[in-house]
Amino acid sequence: MDAIAILTGGGPAPGMNTVVGSVAKTFLEKGYRVLGLHCGYSSLFTKNPRITEIDFLLADDIFNRGGSFLTMSRFKPTDKNFEEDFNLDLFVKNNIKLLVTVGGDDTASTANRIAKFLEAKKYPIANIHVPKTIDNDLWGTDMTFGFQSAVDIATHVIDCIHTTATSHGRVFIVEVMGHKVGWLTLYAGISGGADVILIPELPYDVDKVCKVLKKRRMQGKPFSILAVAEGAISKEESKLSKKEFKAARAQMKEPSVSYRLANEIAERTGQEIRVTIPGHFQRGGSPCAYDRVLSTRFGTAAAELIAQKKFGYMVAIRNNLIVPVPLSEVAGKLKTVSPDCDEIRAARDMGISLGD
Ligand code: F6P
Repeated sequence: MDAIAILTGGGPAPGMNTVVGSVAKTFLEKGYRVLGLHCGYSSLFTKNPRITEIDFLLADDIFNRGGSFLTMSRFKPTDKNFEEDFNLDLFVKNNIKLLVTVGGDDTASTANRIAKFLEAKKYPIANIHVPKTIDNDLWGTDMTFGFQSAVDIATHVIDCIHTTATSHGRVFIVEVMGHKVGWLTLYAGISGGADVILIPELPYDVDKVCKVLKKRRMQGKPFSILAVAEGAISKEESKLSKKEFKAARAQMKEPSVSYRLANEIAERTGQEIRVTIPGHFQRGGSPCAYDRVLSTRFGTAAAELIAQKKFGYMVAIRNNLIVPVPLSEVAGKLKTVSPDCDEIRAARDMGISLGD
């Protein structure tokens, strides 16, 4: 019996189990064995991988559960790993003909390398990638699954901060995840009604941010909420080379950009600032309804592509249609927030400051 293997790479995002469940159900229907590989790519580079055979009962059971029951890792194989550790036997002995990978940009790049490696070893397999990340920064797809669930959580945090901020009349900073891009902060900031949104793509000027806060105070609004991306950078920092930036950040005394900003605003305005960092909270919990549907669409589309013998693709959503995008086009590219995208325009129209 032919088998399909599935693994989850990188860090968790709500919806991973839904993808695994929907891929499994679709392939079980087609008469395949479905093998779940634990601990991401490290499972392919060890002699004793942990494998769970997924049946209909298990697929049903995991469907709406958060996290990844397969567990995951950020293991990124080196050329040496490929030469010395790749477990080709795992594929041959189990008759694995298809590999479905679920993850972000790093997982997509490695999927591409594995397909090429196996082709060179004369054991070509079909591989399909499903785009996951709460950062929504994967090039080639309008949306990754996990993003909307994280937006809901970050929005909930901003909503809760709102009620306390209005009562205290204080300035609050909510630091939102997103790595080097601002999608999550932009969406949570707009939906949570933040007064200032700072994202990496639009370097901020701290004096302009202070001006907004002072103006709000003069207008009788003593409280303000800033949604700040963990990757936000100042105008001065945006002029530094990569090396200079790294060195400057290494010397920063505060634990994150939000704390630094809080100190700078307090110094300039004398206002009391509080920082809230929801952190990994944003990657936890069950997937929201949107992500459950998107994950199901991605999972079943992955199976459909394989049935059509279209290999080496990532399933993507564009204009609400699921389409295949060649993995070679996706690998290594980031989808950042364009400064003139519709969401930025809407934020500015609402009077939200982008700090630029
Ligand atoms: O890529 C998802 C993400 O949550 C980013 O938003 C964040 O910068 C990073 O992962 C955190 O990684 P770790 O869990 O390794 O601290």
